[in-house]
Amino acid sequence: MLRVLETANMHRVPSPEMEDFDVGQWHVAVTGEVIVGVAGYRLLDTPDGPVGKTTLLAVDPEARGHGIGQALQELRMELMRDAGAARVITNADRPDTIAWYERHFGYRRIGEVPKLHEFGLPEVDRWTTLEARL
Ligand SMILES: CC(C)(COP(=O)(O)OP(=O)(O)OC[C@H]1O[C@@H](n2cnc3c(N)ncnc32)[C@H](O)[C@@H]1OP(=O)(O)O)[C@@H](O)C(=O)NCCC(=O)NCCS
Repeated sequence: MLRVLETANMHRVPSPEMEDFDVGQWHVAVTGEVIVGVAGYRLLDTPDGPVGKTTLLAVDPEARGHGIGQALQELRMELMRDAGAARVITNADRPDTIAWYERHFGYRRIGEVPKLHEFGLPEVDRWTTLEARL
């Protein structure tokens, strides 16, 4: 998992940006015996009920463009919905990934939050916060 996350500079775990892998549920995509994609999420308790919060998502660059990212994203949206969440929050930094979330999964931008340290794209110092209905 860390090898795949490192391809997107998202492997600094534990760190202030990602304290632990054990904060939620993790799912992997496997080709043969090799992990080529990882996706995680957790559920936040709020007075209005559970809200989904995605943690990390990355696909090995050599495996991108074949629907693995979409399958992982659809899986975690379905699991969050089944757990009772009506919406999901996602932080992203790459403009092409933000557009991908908007294009395929109904996300809209709701704000920005500064990164705590380098994580993801080094030249982008803040996360764009996106929200979608589940
Ligand atoms: C974002 C990310 C996870 C997407 O993973 P992916 O496996 O490439 O995703 P998909 O293959 O489902 O979709 C990518 C594109 O390939 C297209 N595609 C999917 N299956 C395809 C196929 N069989 N043939 C051709 N194209 C295909 C999709 O339509 C999509 O293109 P579009 O958005 O222009 O329509 C990946 O690019 C990544 O790891 N990026 C860096 C890390 C990152 O930004 N993570 C998110 C942080 S919140």
